[in-house]
Amino acid sequence: MYDPRVTTPDGMTAEQAINRIEAAGHPRPQDRRLHARGAVYEAKFVPSGRIAHLTSAAHLTTETSAVVRFSNGSPQYDADDRARGIRGMAVKFLDGEGNGVHDLVAANFRVFPSSTPEGFVELVEALSATGEAGLKEKLAGGGKLAGFLFQHKESHAGIKAFVSRRAPASFATTRYDGLHAFHFTGAEGTRTAFRYRLVPQLGEADLDADTTKLERGFLLPDLDRRLEGGPVSFTLVVQLGEPGDPTHDPSIAWPEHRPLLPAGEIRIERLSPESADWERQVFDPTRITHGVELSDDTVLAFRPLAYSVSAERRLS
Ligand code: HEM
Repeated sequence: MYDPRVTTPDGMTAEQAINRIEAAGHPRPQDRRLHARGAVYEAKFVPSGRIAHLTSAAHLTTETSAVVRFSNGSPQYDADDRARGIRGMAVKFLDGEGNGVHDLVAANFRVFPSSTPEGFVELVEALSATGEAGLKEKLAGGGKLAGFLFQHKESHAGIKAFVSRRAPASFATTRYDGLHAFHFTGAEGTRTAFRYRLVPQLGEADLDADTTKLERGFLLPDLDRRLEGGPVSFTLVVQLGEPGDPTHDPSIAWPEHRPLLPAGEIRIERLSPESADWERQVFDPTRITHGVELSDDTVLAFRPLAYSVSAERRLS
């Protein structure tokens, strides 16, 4: 029987998913199987007070320390930051002892390209099948990616929106979405569906067409340079669902006119002196605490299984 904590609807285990991702992407043994190159920064969360009535989560309603990992989504450690692709921002809220209490794991797409983990693994395979070619060329060239799109109608909107943009100009000018639904639980027993996004206070900016002056791995040095001039901030924005809005499928966006509330500011201050140690840890979107609950999204339920297998392999 299908058990979302062990297998996907089609019976794929996390081990099998990671085997397929490894076969497609050839990561180095010591790296994350996706999002291989990244670095971890020290940050502060400064709450706005606007969600205090929705959640009893203390870390979201008082000033809290955090660490933030920015990454290129590629399995290749030497991935080209000038190419269109996935960029990640992962936040770990810390308790007084420096332990993680709640992780946000978000990426620069607005809707997940698949409603199942299998679909996502197939997409990783299709994207790697055409090697270094750009996404637009991969789509135009037919082959595995075109075959994937033929099978996965739910992916069209997400992939089309993604392909229409150039690569991000900076980690600091990219919007990252969490995509899955969660629930806030409040002191009075209230329960409110929400999704989160991390919106750059500098505004969004993509690269110009001419990238010849940029280094292949320019994104982390760019962020370090910006931080020499002061903090780089993001607004944690929550979108509130209404009764009937689907919570089980990250490939279905909620209407954009659903209320958007600024929960607070994530102020990134400096590269963590312990970045290399934090790199070893897992940022897990199901790590939550009192005041936040998981939804019925089976892609979300599968992620910690896959991330644990990736972590076991890269740390062994
Ligand atoms: C079934 C679906 C998914 C699979 C199988 C998958 C797989 C993975 C794997 C294997 C890693 C490396 C984990 C590690 O070694 O610590 C990873 C990291 C990551 N994934 Fe996913 N992923 C999925 C869905 C998503 C979604 C929906 C998002 C965005 C909302 C996302 C964003 C990220 C980010 C930002 C990281 C880097 C986290 C970090 O900095 O440690 N992934 N993913």
